Amino acid sequence: MLILAIETSCDDTCAAVLDGPRVLANTISSQAAAHAQFGGVVPEVASRHHLELTAPVVEAALGEAGATLDDIGAVAVTAGPGLIGALLVGVSTAKAIAAPRRLPLVPVDHLQGHVAANFLEPDPLEPPFLCLVASGGHTLLAGVRGHAGYELLGQTLDDAAGEAFDKVARLLGLGYPGGPALEKLAREGDPAAFEMPVAMSRDPGLDFSFRCLKTALVYLCRDLGPEGVEERCADLAASFQAAAVGQLVAKLERALKRGEWQAVALGGGVAANGALREAVTALCERRGIQLKLVARELCTDNAAMIGSAARFATPIEYPAYLAYDAFPTRQNPADGPIRQGGLDVSARRGAV
Ligand code: KG4
Ligand code: ZN
Repeated sequence: MLILAIETSCDDTCAAVLDGPRVLANTISSQAAAHAQFGGVVPEVASRHHLELTAPVVEAALGEAGATLDDIGAVAVTAGPGLIGALLVGVSTAKAIAAPRRLPLVPVDHLQGHVAANFLEPDPLEPPFLCLVASGGHTLLAGVRGHAGYELLGQTLDDAAGEAFDKVARLLGLGYPGGPALEKLAREGDPAAFEMPVAMSRDPGLDFSFRCLKTALVYLCRDLGPEGVEERCADLAASFQAAAVGQLVAKLERALKRGEWQAVALGGGVAANGALREAVTALCERRGIQLKLVARELCTDNAAMIGSAARFATPIEYPAYLAYDAFPTRQNPADGPIRQGGLDVSARRGAV
């Protein structure tokens, strides 16, 4: 039987159909244009768009896979973390598809999904491996020892890497979404043009921080003035990107120096960044470590990664999931291993 997966945690409405690790369809409807006028994601606008888009996107994915709902054996859905209204649309849709057919529902942790993109064909990566997850909402180093769950080895103490890309892009007048636009502009600039603070370089741990980098850019832009910023924007973008990538790679290298990991993988929207991919490739070549780089469309939000994580997560049978709730923040943000699939299903079943 096939898995139907739905992802609506932020501003992309996504559905996928999987046959084991094989992706038969991975449909994404981006709402970027709807949010661009506001310079960022407006949660209420995202929820309303998901409401309109989820059914057609699911239909499109089934069509592309050459499947119908009769071929589906389980419905997977991102349950959190993310925008609560957006998540609720996905979870309600998944319940509405699963319940009449008495199909199991598989709630999936979004971050586990980013890790699980590496389990998809072609060339699925087998644990153990070290995974850097860098998205718009999270930045963390995951020690992946099995297909479900991971050990949190380090995480950002303030902004996420993608959030920093988005904020700096906004400062440079690049609009939303900022990461890809900033990467494009950085190609024309000199990464050594401006000296950037190297955050957390003296911290012996594996945590990240991007706030001081963002603040440095704010002051640089203020000192340069609007005309100066316009003139030097490619250099500013390149210098920021080099510093952000430098920190991500430095922490990866520090984790690798502990000698435990023989393979590295990336996940999350920032993993689509060419400069990061090149720097991690060079690091892994230098250290003789296996590197898995999934296709860019599997780095940014998509439902195929949710279906992949669902293969190793705990399904909830009908009717228990009717009372299941989405969760907006990471379940165990303190630290420590994330439970199976990132979810403690039993605690969330509630009465039905
Ligand atoms: O994983 P993702 O699609 O959504 C979240 O879970 O947040 O990540 C989105 C983030 C955004 O901050 C976006 O600007 C960033 O990933 N991003 C990039 C690139 N593509 C997406 N950042 C840098 N370079 C890129 N090419
Ligand atoms: Zn994501």
